[in-house]
Amino acid sequence: MSALFDPENAIYPFPAKPARLSADEKTFYIEKIKGLLKERNAVMVAHYYTDPEIQALAEETGGCVADSLEMARFGSTHPASTLLVAGVRFMGETAKILSPEKTVLMPTLQAECSLDLGCPIDEFNAFCDAHPDRTVVVYANTSAAVKARADWVVTSSIAVELIDHLDSLGEKIIWAPDRHLGRYVTQKTGADVLCWQGACIVHDEFKTQALLRMKTLYPDAAVLVHPESPQAIVELADAVGSTSQLIQAARQLPHPQMIVATDRGIFYKMQQAVPDKILLEAPTAGEGATCRSCAHCPWMAMNGLKAIAEGLEQGGAQHEIAVDPALREAALLPLNRMLSFAAELKLKVKGNA
Ligand code: 13P
Ligand code: SF4
Repeated sequence: MSALFDPENAIYPFPAKPARLSADEKTFYIEKIKGLLKERNAVMVAHYYTDPEIQALAEETGGCVADSLEMARFGSTHPASTLLVAGVRFMGETAKILSPEKTVLMPTLQAECSLDLGCPIDEFNAFCDAHPDRTVVVYANTSAAVKARADWVVTSSIAVELIDHLDSLGEKIIWAPDRHLGRYVTQKTGADVLCWQGACIVHDEFKTQALLRMKTLYPDAAVLVHPESPQAIVELADAVGSTSQLIQAARQLPHPQMIVATDRGIFYKMQQAVPDKILLEAPTAGEGATCRSCAHCPWMAMNGLKAIAEGLEQGGAQHEIAVDPALREAALLPLNRMLSFAAELKLKVKGNA
């Protein structure tokens, strides 16, 4: 366990909520964005946690709405010369590392992630230096500098499979930054994992006692949990997985209701996938609640229509992602390893189907 970082006492600079738009303003910005996307030969790459109107616009304009792995893959293979990444900064940086020839714009470069903020490169370097015998695996929710230090980058959709693979090769692992996902993959694989102690401020908030009470209120509901959630929440799950895996689970499980322990932004695509099922937010209130996030990431919420239009129109230092070339080169290797591993895994799953 790292003595360097204490997620319980971490304080993050929370962004101001974007101003609400009137219906007319929304229509204005949606039309403006559609025009700018065409003009700039740009495509939207949006995460499931952005607001429904952003996801709908990405879909309508031929972009993608996806988990962080698919966002990386989509951005790197799409022919557009500009990517408008609606998500948080590490997602924009990943897109730029994979496609340096493309212009990568974001609605705001202030869209952080507590996992990224909780893993500063100098402290992480010291942690890795103290354990030189370990393979360094970092979650995609990290800075370009942390990725550059890693042997592998991974997302939650392939984390168990990758750690299992490395364990089968006899490798000991450093995992960063999410402590809950780190514990989850360790339990699933039995691998020797030394874990950085970062946390997601959204998933860390789900409350066990309140969830137990909710389960008694909805005895026919399945519980779907993102593995960035605390262990006690994961233990109550009928399905644990990345955002896209949770949508898949909602489709496959027979239950008529789903209690969902992840950012509520996912409800837009999940409800499309299961129009007849009732989706319920897992509780963030209850004993010990601080409700710093209340099941919606404050940084994902910064991706408003007005900010997207400004990003596309203005570009420049406020909106364009730049990654230091040396860091980019070093971070590309573990990112490409992730994409190759994911592609091989997909082939294997297809072969077994
Ligand atoms: P996914 O890889 O499941 O999309 O998760 C990204 C994320 O930020 C979760 O909080
Ligand atoms: Fe980071 Fe959590 Fe927000 Fe995802 S939901 S971007 S892990 S703070």
